[in-house]
Amino acid sequence: MIGENLKIVLTRRWPIAVEERMREFAEVVVNDNDQPMSQAELRAALENADIVCPTVTDRLHGDVLAGPVQTRLLANFGVGFNHIDLDSAAESGIQVTNTPGVLTDATAEVALTLMMMSARRAGEGERLVRSGAWDGWRPTHMLSTQVTGKTLGIIGMGRIGMAFARQARHGLGMRIVCYNRSKVPESVLGELQAEQVALHDLLSTADFVSLHCPATAETRHLIDASALASMQPHAHLINTARGDLVDEAALVDALRDGHIAGAGLDVYEAEPALSPGLTELQSVVLLPHMGSGTQETRVAMGMRALANVQAFIAGEPLPDLVRAI
Ligand code: 8YV
Repeated sequence: MIGENLKIVLTRRWPIAVEERMREFAEVVVNDNDQPMSQAELRAALENADIVCPTVTDRLHGDVLAGPVQTRLLANFGVGFNHIDLDSAAESGIQVTNTPGVLTDATAEVALTLMMMSARRAGEGERLVRSGAWDGWRPTHMLSTQVTGKTLGIIGMGRIGMAFARQARHGLGMRIVCYNRSKVPESVLGELQAEQVALHDLLSTADFVSLHCPATAETRHLIDASALASMQPHAHLINTARGDLVDEAALVDALRDGHIAGAGLDVYEAEPALSPGLTELQSVVLLPHMGSGTQETRVAMGMRALANVQAFIAGEPLPDLVRAI
């Protein structure tokens, strides 16, 4: 149990309902301008606050975490925590929690949206109508590819990968193949009539490849030029996980050279910056990292982070401890 003058820093604005709940039991300092905090500002927060609640836009690596800190908990707003160096946090005695489970369906919905938009050229069509250049219907205009009954390859069969596979299998009658580091339970494969395959087999047989694994040193550029070359020329790549999984420059080349047909991206290697050439391609759908961005889900994420904060204050086990220190 921490003392009375407990101080919490929220590095961005949170849904108001969560900010209000947080203020009921602590002094809460909110980054009112809602821009990503600088390394100096993050360092100051770590030196002065008992709990810091970061997001994906905060780079919490070795340099900023090293040295004496007041902070004992990083209660991350989000499930992915590749922006936090867990070893350095542990060395400074800081525990890290995340918000798993509550953003599964929302993120799977955006994977589905991107798959449909990419396959059916929806972004391109919308741009055409808005431009005023649409000259009307004709039998061969803007032909795209049907999704129903095609093969979806899921890389990373965690909660979100599984939820998307369910939507695709049950909603669109898609055949599911998946690649996962560990064995996917037979019950899951049975329910989805899915097959767990080697990465190369997935890349070379799927009509749509969707990424759902965490960003780690091992998965960085999992989809590189050679992986893209293994995909079929009519295939589409969907990424709602992390930009680091894809060599974005190689993706631009693959799309430009027609090695794959299209891509739907919600996340980027150096977001919000995009690789040169990406925005010039009609064959890519670009969304601004909005996988979990529904009212319901962002409140649920905040409440989940709050539950971790409350458990920490009460000295109880942290519900979403990322790794014991
Ligand atoms: C979040 C996400 O909005 O939870 C995650 O890992 O990628 C997003 O859905 C973002 O990370 C907030 O920090």
